[in-house]
Amino acid sequence: MSKKRILILISGRGSNMKAIAENVDHGILQNLCEIVTVFSNKSDAPGIALACEKGIPVQVISSRGKTKTEYNRKLLDFLRSMQPDLIVLAGYMRILPVEIVRAFPDRIINIHPADTRKHRGLHGYAWAWEKGLNTTKITVHFVDEGLDSGRIIAQKDVDLTGAQDIIEVEKRGLAVEHVFYSECLRNLLLSIRS
Ligand code: GAR
Repeated sequence: MSKKRILILISGRGSNMKAIAENVDHGILQNLCEIVTVFSNKSDAPGIALACEKGIPVQVISSRGKTKTEYNRKLLDFLRSMQPDLIVLAGYMRILPVEIVRAFPDRIINIHPADTRKHRGLHGYAWAWEKGLNTTKITVHFVDEGLDSGRIIAQKDVDLTGAQDIIEVEKRGLAVEHVFYSECLRNLLLSIRS
């Protein structure tokens, strides 16, 4: 089976991107896919420097100073040119417009640090902490043109019992994200016919 082409979109830290890249190098994604590019809308995203260190091709189209329409048109052209099998959002903090969502049906996925049926948008861990939850969920879902509203692919529990602060909540959540996203990706990649 030929390796699938995945494209990762980030806006910031890039810890999920790093975890996926490690699984592509020597973990559960080995021989299944290659990361064709890490894309960001921010040139100073720490994840871009990380990807460069790892020798992964990067592409930045800065959203700053562009209208939404202008930025999204450039992004769509770029995405099409890459011919990805899957587009993986990993902390990409912009809503994709309908033209992009429709151009890649069931080929764009996102990870969200909460149950998307209960909390959408930013600050999923702060939400769980403030609600005093003993368990929260990580959601991996297909992307539609709404905010974290696409069809759920899979969810994983994060045990928060005894967590002392928001830092601990996020630490536990990210530890789950870093394993779970690659597991979901693996299942999806195996289900895509070449
Ligand atoms: C992750 O916690 C991810 O679940 C979240 O942003 C963080 C990115 O971290 N995504 C969302 O909140 C999407 N609504 P990372 O840049 O270190 O991967």
